[in-house]
Amino acid sequence: ELVYINGEIIPMADARIGVEDRGYQFADGVYEVFRLYNGRPFTFKEHLDRLERSAAGIKLALPTPRTELEAGLLKLVDRSGVREGMIYLQATRGVAPRNHVFPESPSGTVVAYCRPLPPIPNPGEGEGAKLMAVPDERWKRCWIKSIALLANVLAKNEAVSQGYDEAVFVENGVVTECSASNVFAIINGKIVTHPVGSKVLPGITREVLFQCAAELKIEVDERTLMESEAVRAQELFITSTTREISWVARWNEKYIGQGRCGPLTAKLHRAIQQRVR
Ligand code: PDD
Repeated sequence: ELVYINGEIIPMADARIGVEDRGYQFADGVYEVFRLYNGRPFTFKEHLDRLERSAAGIKLALPTPRTELEAGLLKLVDRSGVREGMIYLQATRGVAPRNHVFPESPSGTVVAYCRPLPPIPNPGEGEGAKLMAVPDERWKRCWIKSIALLANVLAKNEAVSQGYDEAVFVENGVVTECSASNVFAIINGKIVTHPVGSKVLPGITREVLFQCAAELKIEVDERTLMESEAVRAQELFITSTTREISWVARWNEKYIGQGRCGPLTAKLHRAIQQRVR
C-alpha cells in the first residue's frame, strides 16, 4: 500500500509522522475524501476547492501548491492501481513543539492514500439506511472539513451500537445533517434540506444532486427542516462521496415511506450515476 506524504510516494509502512504533529495533538488539520470511478477522481476540482476553503477556514497554508498536489494525487492513484474506491487526504499544520499558538513557520504535513470501496447497490435496490436522531454536540464551523471528528465519531457509534446505520443531528427539533453525510426529505414533491454553513458541510454530492434535480425539474428548498416533518416525509435520503445516495428506511423506530426506496430518490440516484460512469 502506497502513501503520498509531502510530495513523495512511498510504501505506507515506511511513512513517518512526527509525534508532535499538530494533527495528532490538536486535530489541527483538514481533510477530503475523493471518489474514484474507473481510476479517475470524480469532481476533483470541487473537492480541491473545498480543501482550499477548509484550509483557509483554519488559517492553514497548504504546504504544496495546488497544481503540484493535483499531479501528486493523480500519480498516487495511478501507482496504487485502485480503480473503484477513494482517496483520503489530510493536511495538518505539521510538527512543532507543543503549543496552542500557531508556529511561526509551520512545516505542514500532507498525507494521502487510496482505498478500494465495495460497489454501491443499484438505485432503488439495497437495504435502506436506519437513522438515529442524536443531539448536535459539534462546533459551529461544520462547513470546514476538520479532522476533529470526535463528536461525529461518538454520535455514529451511539447509533451503530443500537443497531442503526447513521446518526442524524437534531437540535431544537431542527435537522441539520448526519455524522458523515447530508440528509434530504422529499416533501410535496420538493427536496428539502438545511442550508450549508455553521451546522452543515457543503457536500460535493449535495451539489451534484442539486444539478441533477435542476435537470429533472425537481425543486430544491434549502430551509430549516424540522424533525416532525422529516419523519412524515414521502421520502428521505442521505448523500456522501462514498455512498452516492442511500434511501432511508427508518428514523428511530419509525418507518419512512412505504419501507422501500422512493421513486424520486431512485430517479435522482440514476441521474447521479449517469454523471459518474
Ligand atoms: N463525509 N456531512 C458530513 C459531516 C460529512 O462528513 C460528509 C462526508 C458529508 C457529505 O459530503 P460529500 O458529499 O462531499 O462527501 C456531509 C466523508 C465521506 C467522510 O468523512 O468519510
